[in-house]
Amino acid sequence: MTGAYIVGEGNDGTGKSTQIDLLASYIKEQYDLEVLVLHEPDGCPISSEIRKIIKNGSLERDATTNLLLFTASRHETWFRDAIPVLERGGVVLSARNELSSEVYQGVAEGLGVEFVRNVTKMFMDEHYMNPELTVVFTLDDEVRRARIAARGELTNPDTFESRDGKFQADLNRGYKDIAAERNLPTIDASRPIDDIQQEFRELTTKVLIEKGLAKA
Ligand code: TYD
Repeated sequence: MTGAYIVGEGNDGTGKSTQIDLLASYIKEQYDLEVLVLHEPDGCPISSEIRKIIKNGSLERDATTNLLLFTASRHETWFRDAIPVLERGGVVLSARNELSSEVYQGVAEGLGVEFVRNVTKMFMDEHYMNPELTVVFTLDDEVRRARIAARGELTNPDTFESRDGKFQADLNRGYKDIAAERNLPTIDASRPIDDIQQEFRELTTKVLIEKGLAKA
């Protein structure tokens, strides 16, 4: 029995984590399934340490090093924590996955989407590369920045949130283009939290039913 791997993606401040957490509670209660919530690049202890290095803006590095750090982080957490849950027929819900590397390192940092995907493929498995569902949350840039500012993070900006307007525009364009090319569902994140959650639940339920993990 294999479980389902479901990903919420999008630029910083689009509310991915909130939506993933709400969805996790819903799936557990509604379908009595085992659920693991991930938040790349966080995860098992070594992945958390790698995240600290990544987020330390004073440690200079190039885009390739970033890609390798993100890849190392996701490799360890995926095989150590996610695979056992999937093998037991559970659901892995992740805020971000390699699509973030395609957009941040591939598009905005200039490594190229194909290059990022090819490197990632070398270290990850088929299921990781092909989630049952990837939803991209989109939000107007002004609203998105206001939200980040409101949560106080810009006083201590990390490596990516503090990058200039062009970088942010590249991220938004990258998400938009990849979602369109791959036919990934997008959710307008400017709407009320409950409405967004409803849409996310409907997309997820469809997948769980298709996989035989939930009954209609
Ligand atoms: P973090 O605070 O862990 O996550 P978030 O902003 O999603 O709450 O910050 C991680 C940063 O790293 C975030 O700005 C997105 C970026 N990132 C990449 O550049 N490439 C990746 O592959 C991933 C997973 C994240």
